[in-house]
Order: sequence, then C-alpha cells, then structure tokens
Amino acid sequence: MTDIDSTADGLRAAAPSGSASDAAPVRHAQWSSRLAFILAATGSAVGLGNIWKFPYITGEYGGGAFVLVYLACIAVIGIPIMMAEVALGRRGGQSPINTMRRILREDGRSRHWALIGWLGVAAAFLILTFYSVIGGWAVAYVVRAGGGAFSGASSDGIAALFSGLLASPGELLFWHGVFMALTVAVVARGVSGGLERATSILMPALFVILLVLVGYALASGHFSQGLRFLFSPDFSKIGVGGVLAALGHAFFTLSLGMGVMIAYGSYLPRGVSITRTAVSVSVMDTTVALLAGLAIFPLVYANGLEPSAGPGLVFKTLPLAFGQMPLGGLFGAAFFVLLVFAAWTSSISLLEPLVEWLEEHRGVRRGIAAAAAGIVAWVIGIASALSFNLWADVRPLGMFAAFADKGIFDLLDYLTANLMLPLVGLATAVFAGWVLSPRILEGELSEGRGHVFRLWRFLIRWVSPVAVAAVFWHNLG
Ligand code: PFF
Repeated sequence: MTDIDSTADGLRAAAPSGSASDAAPVRHAQWSSRLAFILAATGSAVGLGNIWKFPYITGEYGGGAFVLVYLACIAVIGIPIMMAEVALGRRGGQSPINTMRRILREDGRSRHWALIGWLGVAAAFLILTFYSVIGGWAVAYVVRAGGGAFSGASSDGIAALFSGLLASPGELLFWHGVFMALTVAVVARGVSGGLERATSILMPALFVILLVLVGYALASGHFSQGLRFLFSPDFSKIGVGGVLAALGHAFFTLSLGMGVMIAYGSYLPRGVSITRTAVSVSVMDTTVALLAGLAIFPLVYANGLEPSAGPGLVFKTLPLAFGQMPLGGLFGAAFFVLLVFAAWTSSISLLEPLVEWLEEHRGVRRGIAAAAAGIVAWVIGIASALSFNLWADVRPLGMFAAFADKGIFDLLDYLTANLMLPLVGLATAVFAGWVLSPRILEGELSEGRGHVFRLWRFLIRWVSPVAVAAVFWHNLG
C-alpha cells in the first residue's frame, strides 16, 4: 500500500496505511487544503498542451472554428468528465485502478469496468514518452535564451536555431534525459512537496510573462489579424479531423481520460466543492491557452510566418519577440524556465499513476519504481526523438491510408490524444452516467444542491457520451 510520505508533504494523513490488497481499501492522504488540490490539478492541466500544443494545432486546423469547437468540448464534455473523475477518486480514495475496483465491488458491477483505470495508466505512460521529448526542447531553450542566442536574430536565424536542435539526435536525447530526470526526481520524493509550493509561485509568474508577451504582440501591429485568426470561425477550414483533434485536445489539456484526476481526487478532503474546483481548473487552463494564442499569432503575422508551422510554432515565434525586446535574453530565459515548470508539474502527473500502482501492487519502493518507469519511458521516447531526424521517414502504420503521413511522434500523439483519451473518457461518462447507481456519486457532487447534481447527470448521461460517440462515428465514416 502506498504510504503517506509517498504522496508528499503537501498532504496529510487521513488514516494509517494498510495492506497491499485492493480488498482493504484505505484512504491514504489528503491535500492540505482546497487550494493545494487546485494547484496540483492546475499544475497537471496547464503544461505544454496549453503553450506548445494548443497554438500549433489551432494553426494546423485553421484557427477560429477549431477554437470554438475546443471551447465547447471543454464546457460540455471536459468539465462534466473532470467532475466524474474527481468524484470517483474521492469516493474510492485510492489509485485509479483500485478506486475503480472498490467502487465496482461496492455497487455490485462488472469488474471489467476497471479497464478504465488500466487504459488510463497506459495512456499516461505513453504520453510521457513523447511529452518529455518536448519538455527537453524547452530545457534546451532556457540555455539558448540565457546565452543570448535570440538577440537580434532574424526569423530565418530563429528557424535555423530550431531546426538545428531537431537535427541533432544527441542533443535531443540529452535534453529528453534531463527532463525525464527532473520528473523522476520529484515523483521519487512524493508528488507535491517542494513542487506544490514552487507551483504556487511559478504558475502566477508564467501568467504574468504571458501577459507581457500579449502586450508585446499588441504592439506588433498585427494583433487584430491574430485575433481574427483565433476567434473568427470559418468552418470550411476545420474538417472532421479538426473536430476530433479539438475533442482530443480538450481531454489532453485537462489531463482527462488518464486516471490522473481520479488519483488527485482521491486526496481531496470532503467538504470541498468538486464542481467549483473543476470549473476553476478548467477556466485557468483555458485562459492560459488563449493567452498563448494571443501572444503567438500576431507574431506569426508580423514576421510573415505560417500559422500551420506545426510543433515548432512556439519555438519559432516567441524567440523573435525576445530577440527584439529590451532585456530579451532575460525575459526569454524566464519564459522558458516557466514553460519547463509548467511541463514538469504535468509530467509528474503522467508518471504518478504507474508508480502508485507499482507501489501498491508489486510492493516496489517508490524511488525504484519511479526510476525504473522513467528509464523505460526515456528509452521508448528515443523513437519519438529520432522521428525528428534519423527516422524522419519512418511511417510505422504507413500501410493504412489514415496514418500514411504520420511519423513515430505524430502517431503516438494521435493514438493517445485523439483515440485513447476520448475513448477512456467516453467509457468514464457511460460508467458514471449509466452503469453506476446514482447514489454512489450523489453525495460527492450534490453539495446539498440537488440541481447541480441533476445538471451534471444530464450532461454526463446525454451530452458528453453522445458528443464523443458522434465525433468518432463521423471520423470513421
Ligand atoms: N494537461 C497537460 C498539458 O496540457 O500539457 C498534459 C497532460 C498531463 C496530459 C497529465 C495528461 C495528464 F495526465
């Protein structure tokens, strides 16, 4: 059984820990406050998904229409599913797999639903393998910014800097390793601890720097063009694939469909409103993504770049701004340090579910479990890193038309974010809305106000699953 110390100093014990069996569920620890939970959950949600991924996929799918679908997915699918995950976690009080088992036993339902927990843990681990490659880019850019590499550089020079990084397998693997080591170091010590405290300072700092960058973009003379790209929807540009991508990204950015919110919910004290918490986390997450978009797209237009530049978008646009502003080296380094932190508080939540399970089930010591899982994820991640250079032409599923243009990195991203997460999310919605007796979660979600629970139940039974299923159906068609 995982021990209190394994969940870190930001938590306090609610009960002594017990046996390793899932037959003897134990509430392990609790967040010290509602704020601690919000910070940890926001730390997980706000990450590369907001600042790196959201702008570039928005660029690839043509802007406004994509943003609109994404916002709708957050509101009617993301928030209800986040509430379901947190409520399941608090009700079960254990790691995602054991939480599911405990609730299934209590409600007399088929054990097969525990698959939700298993698939979530697997998806989180797979995402970690490539997430840490991009986290490595951010670490590399701290060094570049600090060394003055952006100052006065032209957009070609900045683009060359980025392609130089991608072309060097050795450098990519090194930074990928550094980022993974950071992740393992924290998970080995327990999740929150110093990081929880650090996040409470660094997240607001990230917010402030983003605002400064938006201010800079405002002065670029192309703000309205950027604004129009982000917010005026042109549905002819998005396509069916774009709707799936928006849905998948809503899950990715809110850290849903991976058991992470179940795990974090299991530490949430009673009496804290799950509805308010889920809404706060989602609003903060969305705000950061939109600010990143507002900082980036005006620069794209001001410098004659393409919105559809792909995964390098952020790394090719923001350094231009840093290169031209006073104290740009300092600002640039600070920005990338904060980006690393945002990625770090997310990557620990990607590693945590597997480590928690290894500890509970296999009795592996936390430090060893974290190191072993980290090394395996790093090794698998090599394939993603090499897909930017030596293996750029490898198409693992090239025999299927749908995947003909997807290299290893793109494929892993697609399979996890666009398929696994929405599918696990769909299963969670069906389970919470249709399979589970309402009484199980009512106590967690009603907070003495029946209408909140009724609204949630309507969304989770009808809106979320139907929307996810419809998007899939359309895509298959
Ligand atoms: N939500 C994180 C981001 O937007 O960068 C990524 C992520 C973290 C996804 C944790 C899933 C997860 F479980």
